[in-house]
Amino acid sequence: MKLFLDTADLDEIREVARWRILDGVTTNPTHVSKTGLSPQKLYPEICAICQGPVSLETVSLDAAGIVEEGRQLAKIAENVVVKVPVMKEGLIAVKQLATEGIRTNVTLNFSPLQAMLAAKCGAAYISPFVGRLDAAGHYGMDLVRQIKTIYDNYEYPTEIIVAAVRHPVHVVEAAMAGAQICTMSFDVMNQLYDHPLTDLGAEMFLEDWKKVPQDEASSS
Ligand code: E4P
Repeated sequence: MKLFLDTADLDEIREVARWRILDGVTTNPTHVSKTGLSPQKLYPEICAICQGPVSLETVSLDAAGIVEEGRQLAKIAENVVVKVPVMKEGLIAVKQLATEGIRTNVTLNFSPLQAMLAAKCGAAYISPFVGRLDAAGHYGMDLVRQIKTIYDNYEYPTEIIVAAVRHPVHVVEAAMAGAQICTMSFDVMNQLYDHPLTDLGAEMFLEDWKKVPQDEASSS
């Protein structure tokens, strides 16, 4: 499963790239606003640090505006993916961008039919927001399973990015549902490594190692 970082924070992106598990980055206007940097400064830097796809979101409301924004964003770097909200105007733009060879990530997805429409319009990625659905009293991961079945039934090549992930169990469930990608915060990404039994076991091994007799020449 590919792991994307859901942030616009350059330090976080650099750090996860150092861990060798960074497959891509998803940004949104909220993430960008938290950095205090202009998109003109920020976006090229993110695209240079992350070798994989970097989603940059459009903010226009009409199809023509979204297409124009998408064209400009796509010029920033080869790994740019244009992120477009799943609304009628957005999907018209997605279809046009697809014909121009510009990849899109259709975002703010909350229903299987929205996901089907995005695939029909040639979206490269669909982003169901599982955590926001959970918070509204729905089972967010059910949506991921529905999308997976629909995409498999019709062999749509659109990849599923499970988004609005709140904890590691969401990542496990996304992998078990067969989603190709999960995008998550730095904190959740960091938590993927953790297990108290690993810490305890490592501590015990180190303690026991101290009791092992060492020959002079041996360094450890
Ligand atoms: C995904 O691409 C979005 O940026 C992200 O997951 C938004 O979710 P949240 O704001 O609910 O965390």
